[in-house]
Amino acid sequence: MLDNKVIHKENLKMAPNLEDYTATSKYFTYDRYIDELVWFDHDKINAAYNAITKNALGDRKNKIAMYWEGENGESRKYTFLEMEEASNQIANYLKSLGVSKGDRVFIFLPRVPELYMAFIAILKIGAVAGTMFSAFGPQALYDRLDQSQAKILITTSELAKRLSTVKKNLPHLKRILLTDKGFAHEISMQPKSLHVAQTNEDDDAYMLYTSGTTGKPKGVVHRHKAIVYEYLTSKWVLDLHESDVYWCTADPGWVTGIVYEILGTWACGAATVVHAGRFDPSVWYSIIQKYEVTVWYTAPTAIRMLAAAGEDLIKKYNLTSLRHITSVGEPLNPELVTWSKKVYGLPFHDTYWQTETGGILMANFPSVPIKPGSMGKPFPGIIPHIVSDDGHLLKTGQTGNLAFEPNWPSIMKKLWRRPVKYESYFMRVKDLANKRVYLTGDQAYKDEDGYYWFVGRADDVIKTSGERVGPFEVESALIAHHAVVEAGVIGKPDALRGSIIKAFVVLKEGIKPTEALKNELSEYVKKNLAGHAYPKEIEFIDKLPKTRSGKIMRRILKAKELGLPIGDTSTLEEY
Ligand code: PRX
Repeated sequence: MLDNKVIHKENLKMAPNLEDYTATSKYFTYDRYIDELVWFDHDKINAAYNAITKNALGDRKNKIAMYWEGENGESRKYTFLEMEEASNQIANYLKSLGVSKGDRVFIFLPRVPELYMAFIAILKIGAVAGTMFSAFGPQALYDRLDQSQAKILITTSELAKRLSTVKKNLPHLKRILLTDKGFAHEISMQPKSLHVAQTNEDDDAYMLYTSGTTGKPKGVVHRHKAIVYEYLTSKWVLDLHESDVYWCTADPGWVTGIVYEILGTWACGAATVVHAGRFDPSVWYSIIQKYEVTVWYTAPTAIRMLAAAGEDLIKKYNLTSLRHITSVGEPLNPELVTWSKKVYGLPFHDTYWQTETGGILMANFPSVPIKPGSMGKPFPGIIPHIVSDDGHLLKTGQTGNLAFEPNWPSIMKKLWRRPVKYESYFMRVKDLANKRVYLTGDQAYKDEDGYYWFVGRADDVIKTSGERVGPFEVESALIAHHAVVEAGVIGKPDALRGSIIKAFVVLKEGIKPTEALKNELSEYVKKNLAGHAYPKEIEFIDKLPKTRSGKIMRRILKAKELGLPIGDTSTLEEY
């Protein structure tokens, strides 16, 4: 039974694209919708063609594709035709440099227009685009460029400085193109027309590195066919109509910024708003007002910060253009759903997915009542299961591993050169005749109304301000400092940021455990690894809890930090 905490939505400002969730889910097959995309042949499709070229060749050619707002308030706008031509010119330039199908071309840029054009250009020629968040430092850059064997990097002269120490160890990197040095001139000399590569549906389109509990980041590869799912989820979950001005606040260094700022959005013909600056409540509200944003996709940390900025601020802006607001990346507190309903007149709709899933798997749909705190219901065609560690199905209300039947078009194709790791994402379920399911690494349960509730991670992956950080990478970055013997890193719950990164550090003998050294270590990780992935808190300890085989037991560090029982210590070495 639905309880009285449910938010019903009688007063939608526009008829949603998905009017009847139940009936659509019941009769769903991809075949019904496949023709809403452009195929060159029955198994040939190009995601960039469907995002840009299709629109530039049709009625939408003079429609705005991108409103760009710079850091200092400068603004530009681009039509689909302009995006088409600019991306064609970049594509032709890349071809002239010898880039061909399957080559990895990486982008390390702040949110400038060239980022979006280059991303489309790379896909258009059948090369594989990789994006890297502009806060990354030398180690994070090296790990990605080295493992992917990227051939070309597109960046700025300022950001390129971060490569100065590692460049010599990247033999596959043939060229570094600087968008602020000669790039515009080179591009302007190129033809504006291009034969878009008729890629096979399973050809690699883009790759993104993401973190797990152990080891270096893994290169998650997505194929061109993912556009089918990117498009349908944009249409039904974000409810994008071509008339929408849509603002996704994510950076294309993360998957949300690729799928729901570039590919899915444009495949629906909507205009995307890009804000190059940092988070600031007044600036954010002024962007919604200026561009008359209708659909908004953001993250719980930002929403918590907006709530902290208060209601008086909201009253200074006209936000009545908003009609649908959505959230992703970390648990959305139920209070934020009711708060947003009160202050914006609209409830935030939580959505759930991962880099590996390539698209939204669970959502609160515009036409379905919301239970605040729940991540909603599966997208049509998606089959979730809650599974025990030993491969049995769990019942309604029981918490277990959130798994999905791997049947949707945007599930990751592979991990770049990590086939064994890729296989570790799958398990056989005994109660489903040994069917293979995809494991998310998250824990959840289903309630009696079919809503899913996120409980937590099953592993040590940290979500800080909605960004995914692997503890191993932070530990490795700390160990590289001369004062450190070893380090254990956990996510410490934080009311604003979801979690903050906390490091327990063992110092070399004779090194003084001072406050100054804590700051130095934080700064060291910030500079060498990434500006967002450094420990905000450091505690010096004499010894780390480890298993007898030498693995750091982060869950014990976490339990100690939170004052919780330590749990099973049978594998713990003497501590
Ligand atoms: O733990 C889940 C959390 O973010 C993880 C995926 O992170 P990433 O690959 O960076 O992708 C983020 C954007 C798609 C998940 O395994 N997560 C994502 N959405 C939610 C969430 N946790 C709770 N509620 C959500 N809605």
